[in-house]
Amino acid sequence: MERRLAVVWTSLLAAGLILVLPPALCITTSKASPRPPRLIGCVFVNRGNITCRWEAGDTPTTSYTLLIQKKRGPEPFTTNSSLTPFTCTTPDTSCTADIGMSSVRFNFCITVTAHSHRGDISSELRCQPGRIEVMLPPVILDGVEPVSGMPLCLNVTWRRTYAVFPVSDSEIRAGVLNSQIEITAKGQLEVQVKNVTVKAYSFLVCLFRPDASYAVRLRHRYRGPQSPWSPWSNARQGRTAEDAPSAAPAFWRQVKQTDKNGWRFISLLWKPLPHFLANGRVHFYNVTCWTERAQILNDHGSCRDLHHASTSCTLLLPAEPCSCTLTASNSVGTSPEAQIWLLGASETEAPEPSSISVSPVDDHNLDVSWRAPADRSVSGFVVEWFAVREKNSSILHWEKLNSSLTTLVITEGVKPMELYAVSVKALYGERGAGKNRTIHIYTRQGVPSAGPNVGVQQISGGTVELTWSPVPVELLHGFIRSYTLCYAATNQPARNVTVPGHVHRYSLENLSPGNYDIFMQANTVVGTGAAGPIINVYIGPDEVSIVMYAVLPFVLTVLAMVLMACLAQSKIVKQKLCQFVPDPSNSSLAQWTTLEVT
Ligand SMILES: *[C@@H]1O[C@H](CO)[C@@H](O)[C@H](O)[C@H]1NC(C)=O
Ligand SMILES: *[C@@H]1O[C@H](CO)[C@@H](O)[C@H](O)[C@H]1NC(C)=O
Ligand SMILES: *[C@@H]1O[C@H](CO)[C@@H](O)[C@H](O)[C@H]1NC(C)=O
Ligand SMILES: *[C@@H]1O[C@H](CO)[C@@H](O)[C@H](O)[C@H]1NC(C)=O
Ligand SMILES: *[C@@H]1O[C@H](CO)[C@@H](O)[C@H](O)[C@H]1NC(C)=O
Ligand SMILES: *[C@@H]1O[C@H](CO)[C@@H](O)[C@H](O)[C@H]1NC(C)=O
Ligand SMILES: *[C@@H]1O[C@H](CO)[C@@H](O)[C@H](O)[C@H]1NC(C)=O
Ligand SMILES: *[C@@H]1O[C@H](CO)[C@@H](O)[C@H](O)[C@H]1NC(C)=O
Ligand SMILES: *[C@@H]1O[C@H](CO)[C@@H](O)[C@H](O)[C@H]1NC(C)=O
Repeated sequence: MERRLAVVWTSLLAAGLILVLPPALCITTSKASPRPPRLIGCVFVNRGNITCRWEAGDTPTTSYTLLIQKKRGPEPFTTNSSLTPFTCTTPDTSCTADIGMSSVRFNFCITVTAHSHRGDISSELRCQPGRIEVMLPPVILDGVEPVSGMPLCLNVTWRRTYAVFPVSDSEIRAGVLNSQIEITAKGQLEVQVKNVTVKAYSFLVCLFRPDASYAVRLRHRYRGPQSPWSPWSNARQGRTAEDAPSAAPAFWRQVKQTDKNGWRFISLLWKPLPHFLANGRVHFYNVTCWTERAQILNDHGSCRDLHHASTSCTLLLPAEPCSCTLTASNSVGTSPEAQIWLLGASETEAPEPSSISVSPVDDHNLDVSWRAPADRSVSGFVVEWFAVREKNSSILHWEKLNSSLTTLVITEGVKPMELYAVSVKALYGERGAGKNRTIHIYTRQGVPSAGPNVGVQQISGGTVELTWSPVPVELLHGFIRSYTLCYAATNQPARNVTVPGHVHRYSLENLSPGNYDIFMQANTVVGTGAAGPIINVYIGPDEVSIVMYAVLPFVLTVLAMVLMACLAQSKIVKQKLCQFVPDPSNSSLAQWTTLEVT
């Protein structure tokens, strides 16, 4: 096998050598004489000039002369041709010969001669039609217009300067032009260049987005890759026609109120379509709600005639299961429908996501993640969040996600030192939304900007019983960990007491008679907040004696009776009664013992 292959190879080699040998011999013989320069290529500019480049030969050359002769008709080229030659001389390896008003539609014969001390040596003569290497002049772009009914297309119209454009209309119709357009979408830096077929002075380009603006330029070259591209035409701006919206807006609802008969006051919410889906300017939205029995609801509430800027409306829905659809329409058409389903008022909601965690990314972003419920029919999730406020209610933010996603980074409507309620609900297609799971969070906590309003509940003896109401959540800027209660008698050093954050009542005891200033501060993990209003409490000398002579014996008597009862009664009764003895670790006394009295 190998031997046979070797034989084939040697015979092939021999055949090759025989074929190659004569030219090889020629090269060796011509090696003695100097190598002439070699033309690489030319660029013809109609009624302008011809620029040629060449490769130097192997003789030391002082200068070169480029000789270009225009040929009339098909007869062979002769050096004594009667036509005037165009020439240029240069020490370099390219030069430009002016051809005056000559057209490039002729055949041209070109040669370059190297001059040296030993004599002249010329390149091979090259004859060709001038247009093969013509650089066409830039054309003029007249219009870039939308095409109605074809939102992906622009109609590009152009013209040429007749006197200098060396290609005729019939040749253009025959398709001798290679063409490209350069496209820059408005507001974008990226520039695209696309091949286009141009056989007339107007042509369609269909690679755009609907209702979008583009700057367009055009260039041509004559036939193949041998001729260079013309310079770009002027740029023209054009906008494509609108198309019907290609997707429905994201659609959601908020149950504002349910009355005793199950009628529900609902806010329908949606998001404006991003432009790449709206494909134009949305003129109006259309909401239709149905009951389960496919009855269209006639009472539209504020959901009738929804103009382009609206993103919500409210209406009253009956207690039975309902569904609503939403479409967006522009000048061309209507989007597909978005649909939501509401369970009947008395139905129990499907399960919530099994766990949810929310953590701040930074001051303005929250990272939410959850686990899908075990139920396989989950069709998506909705994450809702809003700033928790006491007075005026805040906007509900929401994001709808498909069932494959279980995380979301909230980037909208979040700022530091404000409390947010973040909740996640699973969607169950026609079975509506499931229960929610809610977490309260700050992206960053601060210190409260107000202190609690302290009020005196009771003064008896040397004891002042104080209560306070929570600081409005808007002013808290963080989760309350504890309160500091400060009090000072006139001309006495101030003292303060720390009270756990969940407590809203406290007694200052054993105060000696005098005039007291009392105020409170709320503390978060970051620090101590502003002081609340100062109240003034007067404790007279009499009130102390009341404690000493009346309250103390009373307390002692009660304690003694309880003790006696415990000892006297049967075991069961004893246990029951004993439970009434205050557990010191759970009473307000306990707070006394853990006070940081300073
Ligand atoms: C060739 O002619 C064109 C058109 O007249 C002119 O714009 C260009 O500058 C000329 N090139 C040179 C190298 O002279
Ligand atoms: C060119 O010159 C040669 C002699 O130098 C002559 O025989 C020939 O006829 C001439 N050709 C033309 C086209 O003038
Ligand atoms: C493109 O514009 C040209 C010139 O205005 C017009 O004649 C032609 O009909 C247009 N083509 C289309 C498809 O609209
Ligand atoms: C454009 O056409 C040229 C030939 O005319 C080809 O070489 C090139 O790959 C084409 N470019 C694209 C993007 O199709
Ligand atoms: C709104 O949608 C309903 C139901 O699809 C349809 O009957 C009605 O004609 C639409 N209204 C408009 C203004 O498009
Ligand atoms: C909230 O209410 C206050 C007055 O109570 C008002 O000044 C403020 O503009 C309201 N804010 C919002 C968002 O409604
Ligand atoms: C869910 O949404 C993500 C991102 O929007 C997308 O990549 C994915 O294909 C969607 N999955 C389904 C099942 O629609
Ligand atoms: C979550 O559900 C509870 C009780 O059903 C409700 O009070 C709360 O407002 C809901 N939270 C959100 C963000 O919908
Ligand atoms: C509580 O009292 C101590 C000692 O007087 C003082 O250092 C501290 O700043 C006080 N705390 C507050 C919140 O006033």
